[in-house]
Amino acid sequence: MHIFVTGGAGFIGSQFIRDWAERFPEGHITNFDKLTYAGNLANLTAVEAHANYRFIRGDICDRNALLEAIPANVDAIVHFAAESDVDRSIAGAAEFVRTNVVGTQVLLDVARERGAKRFLHISTDEVGGTMGLGWFFEDSKLDPRSPYAASKTAAEQLVRAVGATFGMDYVITRTSNNYGPYQFPEKVLPLAICNALSGQPIPVYGDGLQIRDWVHVADNSKALQLALLQGKAGETYHIGGGTPQTNMEVLRTLLSMLYCHESLLKRVTDRLGHDRRYAVSYAKIERELGWHPEISFPTGLRSTIHWYRQNQEWVKAVRNGEYLNYYKAQYGLNLPAGQVV
Ligand code: NAD
Ligand code: TYD
Repeated sequence: MHIFVTGGAGFIGSQFIRDWAERFPEGHITNFDKLTYAGNLANLTAVEAHANYRFIRGDICDRNALLEAIPANVDAIVHFAAESDVDRSIAGAAEFVRTNVVGTQVLLDVARERGAKRFLHISTDEVGGTMGLGWFFEDSKLDPRSPYAASKTAAEQLVRAVGATFGMDYVITRTSNNYGPYQFPEKVLPLAICNALSGQPIPVYGDGLQIRDWVHVADNSKALQLALLQGKAGETYHIGGGTPQTNMEVLRTLLSMLYCHESLLKRVTDRLGHDRRYAVSYAKIERELGWHPEISFPTGLRSTIHWYRQNQEWVKAVRNGEYLNYYKAQYGLNLPAGQVV
């Protein structure tokens, strides 16, 4: 089986590639990634030596690059590539529309031309918007409220449109907040771990009572593998951790595991239009494909803390943008460093 993965140098994509390569050593994996600030080839050292793995640096908005990179009759496209940070989308939506919407459209066009047998599209629970009460199900209405969520909603609707119009085989997954190793420390959990480990304050947006559901990235990867291999064509599956908690609860648990004082928590101005509550139901994927999260939140959080403690070099390189110098040497790139946190 040959899978063509976009955005595989990011947090979730790299977990998926590491897991897939281990599970299917005979399988072929092409990883197509632009290497923005969020893409880091250091996340993939475990598979570099894999005979059937290849990395291609490229932009999903570049039709010619995709035509060259995607082999005819590829078995599946697994589409992670995206601008993924809500705060950045509030600061400027243009790149989110370009990559998440236009990039998905270009990728869909080329996938069809290349006769891809399946298109697995990775979406987010944020397309449902803030939930007052109740649960977000696969057939609930979509109500995106941030530029990031709006661009991800447009992307998944394009996938459905291509399925309905041209009969393309696709599966869409919507995951809640992921956490685990190799996550860029702009997202709240790695940011809080890295700051706490270095005695720096942890920003808490507004009152900190916003509710998020946390799923470990390794659990998510298993669900994505199932969706790819056994998901029913044209279906959407929600993936969650079953752990809805306020940000304050999460951060207090984290600080207690690190034996740090709560005075590290610093209230800051709230995010504009901050969604109050996400609450994804994963009942459908459990019922139809037999998946449920296996890693409890305390266990996953402990191991994530341990990983960041053990991988200070990775954290240092990511925080000071050193890994971008590596790309510069390797690919002649002069990329701007991401938000240095
Ligand atoms: P990430 O930001 O860590 O990685 C994104 C990857 O996409 C990077 O490697 C980046 O270089 C690449 N990329 C960006 N623009 C590109 C382009 N134009 N062409 C090719 N590659 C490009 O993101 P992540 O957290 O791994 O998320 C992966 C996917 O999962 C995204 O689609 C995101 O919307 C979705 N998702 C993430 C979460 C989460 O909690 N992280 C939750 C639900 C859904
Ligand atoms: P984030 O990790 O950005 O993910 P998302 O916005 O996609 O859910 O944020 C998770 C929650 O944490 C969200 O409610 C915003 C909040 N947050 C903070 O309180 N402080 C921070 O420094 C960050 C980055 C986020």
